[in-house]
Amino acid sequence: MTRLTWLHIFVAVLCGLAVLVFLRVRDASGAPLRSDSVAAGHRLADAWCKDCHAIDAATAGQSGRPPDFVAIANRPSTTALSLKVFFRTSHQQMPNLIIAPEQADDLANYILSLRRG
Ligand code: HEC
Repeated sequence: MTRLTWLHIFVAVLCGLAVLVFLRVRDASGAPLRSDSVAAGHRLADAWCKDCHAIDAATAGQSGRPPDFVAIANRPSTTALSLKVFFRTSHQQMPNLIIAPEQADDLANYILSLRRG
């Protein structure tokens, strides 16, 4: 193959990557940017959850209950759906907070953003 063909392949791959990045950032439904939701979730966690949970990587890793959000995010079983189901069901030890669906989305996005690797 000629040098030019390789260049074309390279440019095509770059375009593909750019499209992938774009699709990851923007929800298919045109919903608000995920990063906005994560930021909103962080604010909610800061206001509502911090008294009991370590809500970010800086404070994670302290032993004992309740589990910190980084640990929750890193469990293979944790998904946006499992978190939202947890928010909607009643708990034994955690207070049953009233969380609106949009806020539940934000909190779930925030917690999942803490997942490592
Ligand atoms: C008054 C203390 C308290 C507050 C406030 C609190 N939690 Fe909890 N949370 C707990 C305790 C205790 C547990 C573990 C027992 C349980 O599962 O009920 C828990 C468990 C959890 C779990 C499940 C962990 C697991 O083991 O599956 C999630 C997710 C969670 N909390 C999220 C939140 C979020 C999000 C907020 C804020 C909107 C919040 N919590 C506020 C005490 C609290």
